[in-house]
Amino acid sequence: MYFAVKLLPGHAYDYRRFLAYSGLNKSRDSRSERAARITLYYHQVEKGLSLASPRAGFGMNVIPGLLDDVDAYLGAYGITDPATTAISALQGYLDYHERIGHPADYVRNRLSVIFDKYHIPLEQSQSWAGGVLPLSRAGLLAARNAGFKSFFESRYSVRQFAGGVIPESDIRSAVETAQKTPSVCNRQSWRVHAFSDAKQIERLLAIQNGSRGFGDQASVVLVVTSELRSFLGVAERYQPWIDGGMFAMSLCLALHDLGYGSCCLNWSKESGDDKLMRAAAAIPPSEQIIMLLAVGILPDEFRVARSYRPSVDQILVMHGA
Ligand SMILES: Cc1cc2nc3c(=O)[nH]c(=O)nc-3n(C[C@H](O)[C@H](O)[C@H](O)COP(=O)(O)O)c2cc1C
Repeated sequence: MYFAVKLLPGHAYDYRRFLAYSGLNKSRDSRSERAARITLYYHQVEKGLSLASPRAGFGMNVIPGLLDDVDAYLGAYGITDPATTAISALQGYLDYHERIGHPADYVRNRLSVIFDKYHIPLEQSQSWAGGVLPLSRAGLLAARNAGFKSFFESRYSVRQFAGGVIPESDIRSAVETAQKTPSVCNRQSWRVHAFSDAKQIERLLAIQNGSRGFGDQASVVLVVTSELRSFLGVAERYQPWIDGGMFAMSLCLALHDLGYGSCCLNWSKESGDDKLMRAAAAIPPSEQIIMLLAVGILPDEFRVARSYRPSVDQILVMHGA
């Protein structure tokens, strides 16, 4: 009873902050919210292009709105990221459709209007980093062995897999490596539920709904959870996601080290889907689902979304002495 009451002010505080500052409030269109929306939608274009067989004409549910946002962003803030990265991703979209001989006139015409309106030289746009990168398995494995920075930077979210079986011993080994993740007071709340049966994978991914076009090529799906019983105070109410999220990152890196590709799959879900997943994956009630991971064998050649990163200056605030 004591904690039932004690938990409430914390949740009310988070509730107020999220309502005030997140992008939920669509009427307040700040620069950050516009940038987040552009990034979300151009990344859908990149993800589509990074599949083994992108569907001709894909993405038209988001592209018109994306182009509106890009136009408005360039008008308001000048020729700058993420509008520039979005343009580059859309140019990748045009290149792909040209290769497969499928008309993409709507995108071509709207981009051309934007280029004219903002006097963008075509050569300038070629240095912008949206779209996909072609990679090879051999190149990636070599980069992996060239020191930490190269190892870290050569991990990508992979959305093309070769199929085939991943030995259970490799999954065990990756989980064992990831156990070295730091956690609050070393409580190690993380748990991993591994699935390799194709039918079961299909069931889980249908609930997750973020792996269309590649989930069926995954050899293993991992559900990363945090055991809520590990947390003992009201101030720890978000620790399951922090420790579980850090563990999931380690797991991606451990899989990368073993030469497998992986893609994190979000568990940003409301209660209905959460209940469905718990039932389908037999997750104990006291565990919090953090995210899923699709894991697979790398093809010899494949493409990944470029997933542009901005300059450090946009991220790092140095607070002087
Ligand atoms: C928590 C989390 C959830 C994600 N969910 C999805 C998803 O549902 N589907 C997907 O294709 N990619 C998903 N991603 C992958 C991101 O798109 C990717 O990490 C991001 O673009 C950076 O690219 P990189 O991983 O290649 O560096 C997710 C990543 C994280 C960390």
